[in-house]
Amino acid sequence: MKQKTKITRNKVMLEPADKLRLLPPYLFGAVDKLKREAFLRKQDVIDLCMGNPDIPTADHIIERLYDTIKHHPRTHRYPQAKGMPKFRQTVAGWYRKKTGVDLDPESEVLALIGSKEGIAHICMAYLNPGDVALTTNPCYPVHYNGIILAGGKPYNMPITEKNGYIPVLEDIPVSVAKKAKLMFLNYPNNPTTASLDDTGFFKEVIEFAKCYNIMVCHDYAYSEIVYDGYKPPSFMEVKGSKSVGMEFHSFSKTYNMCGWRVGYCVGGADFLAPLEKIKSYLDYGVFTAIQLSAIKAMTGSQKHVHDTVAEYRRRMIKLADGLRQAGWDVPLPKATMYLWARLPEGFRKMTSLDFAKLLIEKTGIAVAPGSGFGEYGEGYIRMAVVTHFKRFHDAILRVKKFLKEGPKG
Ligand SMILES: Cc1ncc(COP(=O)(O)O)c(C=O)c1O
Repeated sequence: MKQKTKITRNKVMLEPADKLRLLPPYLFGAVDKLKREAFLRKQDVIDLCMGNPDIPTADHIIERLYDTIKHHPRTHRYPQAKGMPKFRQTVAGWYRKKTGVDLDPESEVLALIGSKEGIAHICMAYLNPGDVALTTNPCYPVHYNGIILAGGKPYNMPITEKNGYIPVLEDIPVSVAKKAKLMFLNYPNNPTTASLDDTGFFKEVIEFAKCYNIMVCHDYAYSEIVYDGYKPPSFMEVKGSKSVGMEFHSFSKTYNMCGWRVGYCVGGADFLAPLEKIKSYLDYGVFTAIQLSAIKAMTGSQKHVHDTVAEYRRRMIKLADGLRQAGWDVPLPKATMYLWARLPEGFRKMTSLDFAKLLIEKTGIAVAPGSGFGEYGEGYIRMAVVTHFKRFHDAILRVKKFLKEGPKG
């Protein structure tokens, strides 16, 4: 007999999964709201908040995309999820040239729909509910949120001015280290801009990882956004790295391709296989035409990369000089397109979020509050030099006036 169910509601109401509640507020969501309010007040917003490159992708990369889409309709089909062989071979070639490391394109390279996707999925591939994973604090948010979304428990390794923004491994309690399954690192670092002088720290990390059986995931997104001849070490160039983990890389910053969503992961085959497996159940990989464009990016002229870096440097020197003259000392980094600055004197009783709010309200300048990257980022703000050079003159004048008026305005 068919059972008759009495309908007691006219709308389905469900609570989303608990883990969504455990996520900290999304940093850029809060600042976006401030920006929208500023636009509504008809303020001329100078947006230094997100690391979203304003310089377009190089023409030869764009041309490769439309030529492929127009003339090679086979590329409109589902792509090879792990990346087409030519993509993986080109990545391996890039690593050989850059770091001297040999990678097997078949098992040690995996294409990603942007490195953020891979970082989130590596957590899902390895963490069971309650598993501990180590991440720096502050950090690029998905290094923390990826752990939460996988049901894991992040353990914060503070990185502060005092420790040179490098985690002190001895400070990690043995009981935590024994439980930890993976560790995220990122040099050159977002948001602090910290950079490693040599491979010494990575060597320590490899020993630590072997001692406690921890997989290391190094995020190398800013490897090419470097100044004055600085060469940031790759995790993969250190002996033993393949036996403890992997490195994530991105086309977003190097080639101004953040909207294209393409990146990759390289490392020990055993570590990459579960990531490939989970991805094969969830996505179909990177659009083939985009993979071909990424190959073009790696193999074509690198002039655009050098020009982009030179332009970021010009902007950050202009901004840092102007701020210094206004009484706010902001160090110039060796890498990344960010300035990481302690709140100016006179404003240090405020939180970084309140400072960012006041700054946009009074000047129209949007910056990222350090606390959005973790509580150890409190007291700092991050400025991304991703707007036209001409805008910095205006930005400096506005900040000068703002600093003069002080926190009470
Ligand atoms: C450290 C770091 N890793 C990864 C990413 C994301 O890169 P993708 O665009 O490849 O997902 C960013 C973006 O800002 C980043 O700062």
